Amino acid sequence: MTIGIDKLNFFAPHLYVDLVDLATARGVEPAKYTIGIGQEKMAFPPLTQDTISMGANAALPIVSKEDAELIDLVILGTESGIDYSKAGATVIHQLLGVQPFARAIEIKQACYGATAGLLMAKDYIQSHPGRKALVIASDIARYGLATGGEVTQGAGAVAMLVSDNPKILALEDESVVYTDNIFDFWRPVYSDNALVDGKFSNEAYITFFSTVWEEYKRRTNRCLEDFEALCFHLPYSKMGKKALLPVLENDGATDSVKEKLLTNYEHSILHTKAIGNIYTGSLYLGLCSLLDNQPNLKDNQLIGLFSYGSGAVGEFFTGRLVPGFSDHLQTEAHHNLLNERQALTIPEYEAVFKEKLPQDGSEMKLDTQADPASICIEKITDHQRYYYKK
Ligand code: HMG
Repeated sequence: MTIGIDKLNFFAPHLYVDLVDLATARGVEPAKYTIGIGQEKMAFPPLTQDTISMGANAALPIVSKEDAELIDLVILGTESGIDYSKAGATVIHQLLGVQPFARAIEIKQACYGATAGLLMAKDYIQSHPGRKALVIASDIARYGLATGGEVTQGAGAVAMLVSDNPKILALEDESVVYTDNIFDFWRPVYSDNALVDGKFSNEAYITFFSTVWEEYKRRTNRCLEDFEALCFHLPYSKMGKKALLPVLENDGATDSVKEKLLTNYEHSILHTKAIGNIYTGSLYLGLCSLLDNQPNLKDNQLIGLFSYGSGAVGEFFTGRLVPGFSDHLQTEAHHNLLNERQALTIPEYEAVFKEKLPQDGSEMKLDTQADPASICIEKITDHQRYYYKK
């Protein structure tokens, strides 16, 4: 029995900031953002979107009525959840009409949370064939106005339906995970914005990738040549390449292996360039990008996935493209979603950045018509958010 990703979809809010505009406003050479960091646009959520609504919007198009009856697990991976106690997955469970005898939980470990969820879901299906699990990665990446990390912000969600005999990617059993207690990026409970030691975080990411890759090779006797593509956690589009290049050199990759992996890397970063960091969904946004933009991928090819969550946990795991996978992608919807967005001027972005839902229990009604998403926050009152499905 194979187990893996049966359906896959992402969502990004309809607002974005053009990073050439941002660079100009911050007095930075635009090429630093567009070439040095490798980002073009940064998705930004209106007040009508949070991690719950974005996660539900990502899942809505792929969860059919039949799926909702078979889902036993709803897992939300997020590090920008809205409640210390109640899992956002309980709301998503309701918004999607999932059958009531299901488990709904939220998982946190920075950008690694959804990977933990995906691999837990795989184990669950192993012991419950025929059932399904919904794994959602949803986050808003905020570093603050005019900070070093500002250009690497973003917002969005990825939803994955996990089942046996999946239609897109069959996950393999062997993976290597590595944990070390470091402070490269974190967000204390009293802070809306992340704290980050930017240079150290880059170094930690690179070290974690080489560490899990070396151990993976030792355990499996596989090498770079075995892979058609490697997908990376993408806090910004250049990060994965910074980790990949030294490994290509160390492993003595041939020119054709280098060309194959670097070309596919470029396909995997296109959605991230247009959206930014979506934290725990970033790796899976990279997978969507690869599948949406690489028409020459073939059935049964092996894809490697590197998940990294600051703090830090890194994991390298793998999957094989299922025969016929290309018939089950949401490519057109993804391109439409990206093309139909609306640019914010920098003053507009700064104004939206400072907006907040009330935190004193008072009521605020929101304009759901101004947001084209299917699911929006419509109201907050008595410290409870109400979501509206159009
Ligand atoms: P910075 O200090 O603004 O940028 O920080 P820099 O000076 O390092 O420059 C960046 C690149 O632009 C450099 O290229 C420059 O040479 C180049 P590199 O040496 O890296 O190849 N550059 C130019 N290129 C062309 N034309 C120019 C030009 N000027 C400079 N004119 C940093 C950048 C990413 C550190 C910062 O934005 C930041 O702190 N971001 C947030 C942290 C982050 O994204 N870390 C990534 C690894 S940790 C991770 O992935 C986990 C995370 O997702 C969180 C989680 O797990 O939850 C973040």
